[in-house]
Amino acid sequence: MDAIFNRTSVRKYKQKSLKKEEIDLILKAAFSAPSARNSQPWQFIVVENKDTLKDLSQMTPYASFLKDAAMGIVVCADKSKNDSLDYCQQDLAAATENMLVEAKSLGIGSCWLGVYPNEERYLALNQYFKLPKGIVPMWMISFGYIDQEEVAKDKFDSSKVHYEKY
Ligand SMILES: Cc1cc2nc3c(=O)[nH]c(=O)nc-3n(C[C@H](O)[C@H](O)[C@H](O)COP(=O)(O)O)c2cc1C
Repeated sequence: MDAIFNRTSVRKYKQKSLKKEEIDLILKAAFSAPSARNSQPWQFIVVENKDTLKDLSQMTPYASFLKDAAMGIVVCADKSKNDSLDYCQQDLAAATENMLVEAKSLGIGSCWLGVYPNEERYLALNQYFKLPKGIVPMWMISFGYIDQEEVAKDKFDSSKVHYEKY
């Protein structure tokens, strides 16, 4: 799949809204991910409001460009589906990668923005959205039409692959 091999983190976006159909496809890609016991322990907060994006961009030191994104998604764990955040993280990561790849296939750039396990950062997001008990914001993703040169990195490293034994 070209979208997998050509995806890179995109941090510069055109000032143009995403189409509703594109947002829906990105979300559908998330929901298509595998999850332990099919528990689907995720909740997604979709943000297009510019003021909210600006606020979110200040919640970690490495997300300043989120304020210029067309959309942000806050990826939350739902502990009522799986009490273990360790397990939730694996499921949410699968859903997130699906979103990044689907976005790329639509010509939309994205960047994963870490939050958890930094307590200060995930508690700030928790308070900002007044999240119900058991909903934990784990990370965010920025999305937007690509406004930078993309150079796909070839990260394949055969020294990290072990056949039959380590
Ligand atoms: C868990 C995780 C957290 C990340 N957090 C940030 C972040 O806060 N800010 C940022 O600019 N990039 C962030 N990234 C993107 C990485 O920097 C990027 O994926 C990595 O440098 C590899 O580059 P590529 O995505 O272009 O292949 C994060 C990626 C992951 C998987």
